[in-house]
Amino acid sequence: MTQDELKALVGQAALKYVVPGEIVGVGTGSTVNKFIDALASMKGSIKGAVSSSTASTARLQALGIPVFDSNEVDTISVYIDGADEIDHAGHMIKGGGAALTREKIVAAQSARFICIADESKLVTALGAFPVPVEVIPMAARRLRKQFEAMGGSAQIRMKDGAPLVTDNGQHILDVSGLQITDPLGFESEVNQWPGVVTVGVFAHQKAAVCLLGTAAGVRTLEF
Ligand code: 5RP
Repeated sequence: MTQDELKALVGQAALKYVVPGEIVGVGTGSTVNKFIDALASMKGSIKGAVSSSTASTARLQALGIPVFDSNEVDTISVYIDGADEIDHAGHMIKGGGAALTREKIVAAQSARFICIADESKLVTALGAFPVPVEVIPMAARRLRKQFEAMGGSAQIRMKDGAPLVTDNGQHILDVSGLQITDPLGFESEVNQWPGVVTVGVFAHQKAAVCLLGTAAGVRTLEF
């Protein structure tokens, strides 16, 4: 199976976690796009969605799925999102699609995080994928130095020759060369550096379940 077919497989499999009559939290990315397409088949039986990006909002609305502002909703039972890496404890690196801040907000509002990913995303330790960090632009230079002092190398993510601007009007630093042996500690430390909006390590908002697309079918990991 191609990676695209594996993504479609887990996007479809995630439907069984969606609670009829409720609002579902929806992440961002190519795997989530498959989930959104599948969700259209049950749009009559859910109230709608809280979305983590303008891109996912547009896709949901184009399929006729109502999108609620997160402030209109109290708690969400299930949040469905992809990952750039996930370890065997459910810790993840996210933000390859630059939506990490809103993803973490909706994940924090949700009782359970269901991660959907193809098998290439499962790792024994986080850090081969550069860690995305959303930052206030005026802090970027100093933060790059702080990551260098940690042994990493941080680059500002570019798009069309200029720094990429997130849905929140900020920039992304992609930090490579880190070995994240303590995801909880790393997330807590980097989050309190002035100028960091969100670090793309999801350890406090880790996955409860991962639906992993493999050649043999969907493998369910529970953490
Ligand atoms: C977006 C994300 C995505 O979930 C992550 O990048 C995985 O994307 P894809 O499903 O396209 O591989 O964190 O900010």
